[in-house]
Amino acid sequence: MDRRIKIGIIGTGGISHFHMAGYASLVNVEVSAACDMDENRLKTFGSKYGVRQLYTDYNEMLSKEELDGVSICTWNNSHAPIAVAALGAGKNVLCEKPMAMNTKEAEEMRDAAKKSGKLLMIGFVKRFGKETGICRDFIEKGHLGDIYYAKASYLRRCGNPGGWFADLKRSGGGPLIDLGVHVIDQVRYLMGRPDAVSVSAVTFNNIGMRYDIKGIERYKASDYNSYCDVEDMASALIRFDNGAALAVETSFSLNIKEDSANLELFGTKAGARLEPKLEIYSQMEDYLVDISPRYHKGDKVFDEMFMRETAHFVDCIANGANCLSPAQDGVELMKILEAAYASAKAGKEVVIDK
Ligand SMILES: NC(=O)c1ccc[n+]([C@@H]2O[C@H](COP(=O)([O-])OP(=O)(O)OC[C@H]3O[C@@H](n4cnc5c(N)ncnc54)[C@H](O)[C@@H]3O)[C@@H](O)[C@H]2O)c1
Repeated sequence: MDRRIKIGIIGTGGISHFHMAGYASLVNVEVSAACDMDENRLKTFGSKYGVRQLYTDYNEMLSKEELDGVSICTWNNSHAPIAVAALGAGKNVLCEKPMAMNTKEAEEMRDAAKKSGKLLMIGFVKRFGKETGICRDFIEKGHLGDIYYAKASYLRRCGNPGGWFADLKRSGGGPLIDLGVHVIDQVRYLMGRPDAVSVSAVTFNNIGMRYDIKGIERYKASDYNSYCDVEDMASALIRFDNGAALAVETSFSLNIKEDSANLELFGTKAGARLEPKLEIYSQMEDYLVDISPRYHKGDKVFDEMFMRETAHFVDCIANGANCLSPAQDGVELMKILEAAYASAKAGKEVVIDK
């Protein structure tokens, strides 16, 4: 495309700043409009970044502005209506994770993209992490063999972000839908996108959001408060159609020493651990060997993942690049998350319909 790509950002809270920084780093992109139902937050965002066209109603923005794409950075319960409206208005969409509140909404979004012929990319930002990219290179060349088991965890001791994150009606759930979605997607992506066939999960709601704890920093929703009706912790075993399985644990509140994130893959030829840096475990000449690929990790890991994610979205729009994180993957993740919550509620394994 020989003109600048015009982007609108819907939702100007915490994560929108990472989308904005990503777009701002690209010479061929202009963020020309923004929307938030909180007018003060919207105005602060507009003046900070020089975005002039500001709207409190996304439908008005979508009908008035000529945009090539929009980033949806709002509460989970508004992803589906906003994405369907944006696609219907002919805009390409980058939607934050989780894709939606449930599978039905996710399928409606995917179908709206098909109908409009526009792109619906899901913000599975971990796919754009360095470890994920390097590990995928090793996997694609066959160095891990067949991956048959994975372990993933994303645990916070006192990290409930509060506000809408802790309000089931607006979030769809707690750490499982918010943090679990990242690592479940990362494993599925690295395994070559097998479909899940069943989930057995437990969730616990014993501690609450630890609103009164002092002396710590935590990621907070823009409208932080003490209301909480989501789980503290979830654990699940996910079976895939290729026979592989994933054990996953996530928490917002848990009595552990430190917050941690871990992801391990176990293959017939080698295993891999992605955190804190990628390592590969194998055997060679009758010796066990540990392989540590050399790469620069950098100290802005989170920011850089968003830079690569937004650059990829723009590359898809401007140059027709093949989307690394398409809508169907979001639908598959919603099926897993929905089955996990259903399993925890029923107290037994839940089979995922084809
Ligand atoms: N990829 C990641 O690592 C990551 C990290 C944090 C949050 N997120 C996702 O980003 C999204 C936003 O999270 P956040 O932390 O920025 O929350 P936030 O509370 O800081 O900001 C959300 C903003 O959306 C606005 N909003 C909500 N519904 C709206 C609507 N219908 N129309 C206009 N504005 C609306 C709110 O007023 C608020 O300003 C969520 O889906 C969350 O899961 C992703």
